Amino acid sequence: MSQRVLYVIACGAPPAREVGRLVSLAQGRGWNVCVLTTPSGRRFADVAGLERLTGHPVRSEYKDPGEPDVLPTPDAVIVAPATVNTVNKWAAGICDTLALGILVEAIGKGLPLVALPFSNRAHAAHPAFAENVAKLRSWGVRVLFGPDVYPLHDPGTGSSYLHLFPWAKTIEAIEHGIRDGEGDADPARPADGRQARQ
Ligand SMILES: Cc1cc2nc3c(=O)[nH]c(=O)nc-3n(C[C@H](O)[C@H](O)[C@H](O)COP(=O)(O)O)c2cc1C
Repeated sequence: MSQRVLYVIACGAPPAREVGRLVSLAQGRGWNVCVLTTPSGRRFADVAGLERLTGHPVRSEYKDPGEPDVLPTPDAVIVAPATVNTVNKWAAGICDTLALGILVEAIGKGLPLVALPFSNRAHAAHPAFAENVAKLRSWGVRVLFGPDVYPLHDPGTGSSYLHLFPWAKTIEAIEHGIRDGEGDADPARPADGRQARQ
């Protein structure tokens, strides 16, 4: 049986420096992991280290028209860390980064989706963020956010709280979604197993 493919999307927040921890956890559970970042997330991530760890290129930009696809098609997607910016744009259906294009399409495909936002208490208090978390949840995205997940920190102190970022909860949530049958029916999935269009 071929390995299930997990896309891990890291946005522009301090935990993106440590996204390799999530990669190792997922690989230990049998996933073939591909890391993607937003353009901002790429500034935080150890791209060379992640490419060595996964054996896949770390993609952050749309390919040029006519270029071949380099990543296998995802069976599930985790966004961690998810920024306030990407959560808000995702809920609005905006696709101006490769990461958002994949996330917007993934809702249409019915893939198992988990988002673990990381933000300070002031940033996360913007009313649009709460509305958009609720919207994404109503569309089947497992958004791991709230006092039961981890405590919000004060502005400017995020790098001191990386040890609290609960990477393992994302894997538990995605596997829970798969047990619940999410992603079984995927009419948009191409037969050749390659990621379409992006
Ligand atoms: C040092 C630094 C730390 C940041 N920390 C966060 C954060 O913890 N959460 C967040 O939502 N945005 C944070 N931002 C802001 C995002 O990087 C910014 O909104 C960016 O546009 C996000 O783009 P993306 O959603 O495409 O990754 C931080 C920015 C910088 C430069």
